[in-house]
Amino acid sequence: MPKIRFINSNKEFDVPNGSSILRMSLRYDGELPNRCGGGICGSCVFKAEEGTEFLDNVKVQERRKLGEEWLKKGYRLGCQTFVTDGDVAISWDDEVTSQVKVRKPDKIQKEVTASK
Ligand code: FES
Repeated sequence: MPKIRFINSNKEFDVPNGSSILRMSLRYDGELPNRCGGGICGSCVFKAEEGTEFLDNVKVQERRKLGEEWLKKGYRLGCQTFVTDGDVAISWDDEVTSQVKVRKPDKIQKEVTASK
């Protein structure tokens, strides 16, 4: 069973494989800020301090809201990220959260294949 360690609130929990970071934070009072739960507000932005390799793939909503600049620095959205099969430790930072919250989302072009 993977563990999630919430560094800011100094809490650590065993969670099932494939758990949502935000859902586990809400369930066990990990205190990760949140608001919309849908990848829009940016309140749940966090950085994986350990175990980045145990997070699932970046979602379209994260590409929109965080853009490459925040993704490259290792930030993810808690409501869009799931733990795979290893331990992770996450932290968040008020200053980063405020910047991400006001960031205008990128427009992501959907690849459209025309069928004939
Ligand atoms: S809670 Fe709003 S983006 Fe995650």
